[in-house]
Amino acid sequence: MPVSANAGRRQSVQAIGHMSTGTRAPSYGWRNSGTLRAMNSVIRQPRRIKASFIGPFALMLAFVICVFAVAIYWIEASIRDRDLAERTRAVGELLEQKLDKDANLMMATMRAIMTNGAIEQAFRQGDRGELEQRAGALFRSLRAEHRITHMYFIRPDLVSLYRFHSPAVFGDEIQRVTLQRASQGQQAAHGVELGAMGTLTLRVVMPWRHGGESIGYLEIGVEIEHLIDEIRDSVGIDLLAVIDKRNLDAEQWRRGLVLMERDGRWEDFADHAVLARTAERLPVALDDGLLNRLLAGATAEIRDRGRSIHLASVPINDAGERHLGALVLMRDITDMAATFRWSIVAVVLISLLAAGGVLGTFFFALERVERDYRHQHELERRLLRLDTEHRRILQLEKLSAVGTMVGSIAHQLNNPLVGVINLAQLAERGADDPVRTRELLREIRSAGEDCRAFVKRMLGFSKVSRFESKPTSMAELIEDTVVLFHQAENRHLPVDVKLPDEPVVLTVDPVLIRHALFNLLVNAAQATLDGRGGILISLERGEDKERNLSGWILAVDDHGQGMPQEVMEKAFQPFFTTRADGTGLGLPVVQHVALLHDGQVTVTSEQGRGTRFALWLPDST
Ligand SMILES: Nc1ncnc2c1ncn2[C@@H]1O[C@H](COP(=O)(O)OP(=O)(O)OP(=O)(O)O)[C@@H](O)[C@H]1O
Ligand SMILES: [Mg+2]
Repeated sequence: MPVSANAGRRQSVQAIGHMSTGTRAPSYGWRNSGTLRAMNSVIRQPRRIKASFIGPFALMLAFVICVFAVAIYWIEASIRDRDLAERTRAVGELLEQKLDKDANLMMATMRAIMTNGAIEQAFRQGDRGELEQRAGALFRSLRAEHRITHMYFIRPDLVSLYRFHSPAVFGDEIQRVTLQRASQGQQAAHGVELGAMGTLTLRVVMPWRHGGESIGYLEIGVEIEHLIDEIRDSVGIDLLAVIDKRNLDAEQWRRGLVLMERDGRWEDFADHAVLARTAERLPVALDDGLLNRLLAGATAEIRDRGRSIHLASVPINDAGERHLGALVLMRDITDMAATFRWSIVAVVLISLLAAGGVLGTFFFALERVERDYRHQHELERRLLRLDTEHRRILQLEKLSAVGTMVGSIAHQLNNPLVGVINLAQLAERGADDPVRTRELLREIRSAGEDCRAFVKRMLGFSKVSRFESKPTSMAELIEDTVVLFHQAENRHLPVDVKLPDEPVVLTVDPVLIRHALFNLLVNAAQATLDGRGGILISLERGEDKERNLSGWILAVDDHGQGMPQEVMEKAFQPFFTTRADGTGLGLPVVQHVALLHDGQVTVTSEQGRGTRFALWLPDST
């Protein structure tokens, strides 16, 4: 009964194509860690992109925000400084304008006095009593209504004739700059002068002429301390008028305070007396050092009782350009500073928000890049690992192929040699039977010739990878092999042969096919050591359905122990064997022979029931 009849229940394995199908599972050992070490040296650890970009970028943003805030602070501060400078200039110009205006008013008054013939007559005659009588009332009304404090009638030789504000003093030569200027230019002159008691007075002097003749000079003085109130009202800045103490006499100053009921202060500063001020209290921080700096042209910003005050000064010079003191501007910039502070805070906050947004966007973008980068890196690692493994497997395959080839050669030589030895032993034993001895010697020679043929082919194979095929009668080939098998291996195991009716001649290498068949017979015999059943060799038509090729199946069926699945999967691997004295090269050689003939080997087996090896060979072309 052909074993293939049970094929439905049998497990089967097909071994075709490359020898590598049966490559033994590789064992790495220490080589694996060495390989990984080499790989790590090729692929460096992926860089932490986020960490290396975000930090410097955040620092850069912080730096930009700081520069931005400082720039805004600087711009705002310079705007404030410019504003204060403009107001300082405005205060100076306003003072000039008011002095000019007051001077013009006074000149109009003086011209009105000069048109009075009676006064002129009294002046010409040097009659002080008449002058008092004619103009005394006018002076008093001017003093009461227009702060006129002084009125002089001065002779052409610049000697005082009559002082309305101090009638007892006369006959002294007056040397004030305004009078000198009016005298030299013979036209009206005016300017600020500091009085002995510390009063700042605007003095206007007009030459008095009649018909080309000089009668003398009329001088009027007006206190100007009230002007700082008017200027404060105009520009909205508190003012402080200070006079350099070097121009003053302390005693006279105090007398003046009492006489004129003034509000000046001597002690507030070491070098300057306070002439007038628009604010009730002076800032605490305004001390001598700060005042001197301001008078030298500097500006300053101070805090005083919760207010921010910006300070600057305008010099006060007299008519002769002598430095008298200064007007200190005290601008309250509390609201402006608060607005300014808030604007900086707002700008910084908005910048921080914007920076946060940019940083966040950048962060997520970098995260994506880093993820892609890591992914890419991982792929590269895997690729390199695969490449390394691939190279290693190739190397193993090369070694394996060499090993297989060496093993095959040994195997192919070993079997006939075993046959030769066995036959020689038989010949020795039956030496007295010349017919039998001759027969045995013939077989020994045949086996030796097989060996020589094989060696010859191997030598040829080492030059050109080819084998010698020729039309071969398959029936003869099978018969020869069975004889060899019985003589060399197992004399008693029955081997049935089932051939087709017609003779089959295939173009094959008879030596190789015989060798393959011999291997299959030996394996079958080894699997049926208990002698149960026999072996069946069959030759029948078969086709390769995948390639749609017709051919012949040379099959060996046994009723031996069969093969478990795991043995069947590895049976074609070179060196795989389950036998203590096996080399594991029998089936790889069969497979190799099949491949050389463009054929294939399949196996079906059932444990405890038997095994069938089928060698498919294509029709001869
Ligand atoms: N007919 C069979 N029945 C059961 N098992 C088999 C049969 N043929 C082969 N095997 C199993 O396949 C293994 C490999 O066989 P192979 O011919 O390649 O090597 P071997 O017979 O062990 O050694 P060698 O043939 O080199 O002396 C065997 O060890 C055996 O386990
Ligand atoms: Mg074997």
